[in-house]
Amino acid sequence: MAVRALWYRNGTLSLIDQRALPGRTRILRLRRLSEVAEAIRTLTVRGAPSIGVAAAYGMVLARREGRLGPAAAARVLRATRPTAVDLFVGIEAVRSVWAAGGDVEAAASAYRDRLVEECHRIGISGAPLFQNAHRVLTHCNAGALATVEWGTALAPIRVARERGARLFVWVDETRPLLQGSRLTAWELARERIPHAVIADNAAGYYLSTGQVDAVIVGADRIARNGDVANKIGTYEKAVVAHENRVPFYVAAPWSTFDAHRANGRTIPVEERAEAEVLELAGHRMAPAASHARNPAFDVTPARFVTGFVTPSGVVRPRDLARRLDRPSRGRSTGRGPPPAP
Ligand code: MRU
Repeated sequence: MAVRALWYRNGTLSLIDQRALPGRTRILRLRRLSEVAEAIRTLTVRGAPSIGVAAAYGMVLARREGRLGPAAAARVLRATRPTAVDLFVGIEAVRSVWAAGGDVEAAASAYRDRLVEECHRIGISGAPLFQNAHRVLTHCNAGALATVEWGTALAPIRVARERGARLFVWVDETRPLLQGSRLTAWELARERIPHAVIADNAAGYYLSTGQVDAVIVGADRIARNGDVANKIGTYEKAVVAHENRVPFYVAAPWSTFDAHRANGRTIPVEERAEAEVLELAGHRMAPAASHARNPAFDVTPARFVTGFVTPSGVVRPRDLARRLDRPSRGRSTGRGPPPAP
């Protein structure tokens, strides 16, 4: 059964608490800007497109509260997480309408609808890639939870399955917060899509022994030259896939393409709390005196990407800049340059 990560009605943003999965499906109901900002910061709602939509509705709640103006409300939400450009695009989609005196709820809902439609189209664009690629590896969660519905990396898998492809998914557990084993596996299990969770450090073994036909991941930000910021560990998978001649695809809606950023070197990488690395489910796993570092993302150079699965087809990295310049590229969720964090 399909999942919807969040929905809005009458001044309430409801969302699945992604921290509680897979143990409990808990729905949180948010009515204030500060609650939405906190939910984004704590990964209660997560995944680039989902945080963009949550932030868009956070702006709607701020307008209803009436304490802040559009610029100040946008500042609160922009400060939550730095890497996913969708966050900034979602905020801007509503801020600009609010500043012009328009209907903010209609703006947020239109943003969400376009995003969901783009993710469905990613599924249609990418499904043919998986008709003969039976064993697919993915990293983190780029499913419906991360995108409101459909997913990015999981959308072609869903559409290919609907068309009768027999697929098996290798799910990287995705340390330290286990978005793979907790969330991707939860989505696949609900839909009875065959899969196995593997430790992050097992991916090289399966790639090098001919047990993976293709890799597909989502993205938090894609620079104009095709460099990709995504969940920490993505870079390693891309390098090992390249070494073993396994195609490596990145699926994303147009809002994830940062057309004004020349390359990935200047993408801000979020550094999160060291407790996320030192503890597992609240239990300390390292000596009390030890410290940790915890970058949440890495940047994969474009040369390791076989193709971008977009709502308007599969684009090779060398064609990306030209495609981003085309007014007709179908880019509907990210008009204009998003404000840089
Ligand atoms: O820290 P997270 O869980 O928000 O990171 C999410 C990812 O890295 C996803 O792969 C990315 O946002 C793509 S979501 C379609």
